[in-house]
Amino acid sequence: MVFTQKDIISIRDFSKKDIEEILKLAEKMEPIARSMETCRVLEGKLLGNLFYEPSTRTRLSFEAAMQRLGGGVIGFAEAGVSSVTKGENLTDTVRIVAEYTDALVIRHKMEGTARFVADEVDVPVINAGDGAGQHPTQTLLDLYTMQRILGKIDGLHVALVGDLKYGRTVHSLAYALAMFEVKMSFISPVELRMPREVLHDLSNSGIYVNETEDIHEVLNYADVLYVTRIQKERFPDPAEYAKIKGAYLINSQLLQGSETIVMHPLPRVDEISHDVDNTPYGKYFQQAFYGVPVRMAILKKLLK
Ligand code: NCD
Repeated sequence: MVFTQKDIISIRDFSKKDIEEILKLAEKMEPIARSMETCRVLEGKLLGNLFYEPSTRTRLSFEAAMQRLGGGVIGFAEAGVSSVTKGENLTDTVRIVAEYTDALVIRHKMEGTARFVADEVDVPVINAGDGAGQHPTQTLLDLYTMQRILGKIDGLHVALVGDLKYGRTVHSLAYALAMFEVKMSFISPVELRMPREVLHDLSNSGIYVNETEDIHEVLNYADVLYVTRIQKERFPDPAEYAKIKGAYLINSQLLQGSETIVMHPLPRVDEISHDVDNTPYGKYFQQAFYGVPVRMAILKKLLK
């Protein structure tokens, strides 16, 4: 056992060993997540879910994970129902909820919020997305999905497609993949390219990245096509979004003959056609399910 994290803020705080330990434990959690076994290891523990930005999968899979392990959950799904609307500041809210619970999950539009909160409270803090920053638990379930479906992470060629500028899932995932023996391709419109600082960090880790706007060529060798939504809410100018939306459409015709799997953190808007859903390519629903065992593993590591 090498796992030493108190909080889960950025995937960059993890070692490859930390990641592997979570993935291994997640596999043990799968029968419990599927309701084939029961477990009460977190009985008496309470999780505080603080979602200042919209969420479906992340919030509900944390709730499912906690309850499948015998624990409870309190919190809010939008700040509008909390005392934030009365003018309460973030620090007061999180300090109070930390008094009521054993760990906090926070999602906020501002980059750096989870780190700030972790410094304010004594209980473990899990970053469920901070603006365009990081989304480390999504990354762990993304890696778990690759491991479970393709049997490995080392040796893969992973293509990240879509909004690489504002998408926090791809920022976290690129850093995590850099800890493995992978090849990466980044496919996006020029305006939504991966931030230069991320590319710089990757090249310092000796990672070869192929940046392109053309998805066709990449389909010949990618093992994973990781598609993302254009992050409308992060565009400073709606006209810029309007210009770029619909830049990519992955459909079953495009995928014909390729050996890739298609992943997506979801929600999708129009970047993956529904005709991919029930093909052997489409793995995003399975991926979303894996959020439960992976978050069970994370919660057990932090709370036990
Ligand atoms: C992602 C997010 O919130 O960053 N959603 C998720 O947690 N599965 C992706 C997105 O919103 O596009």
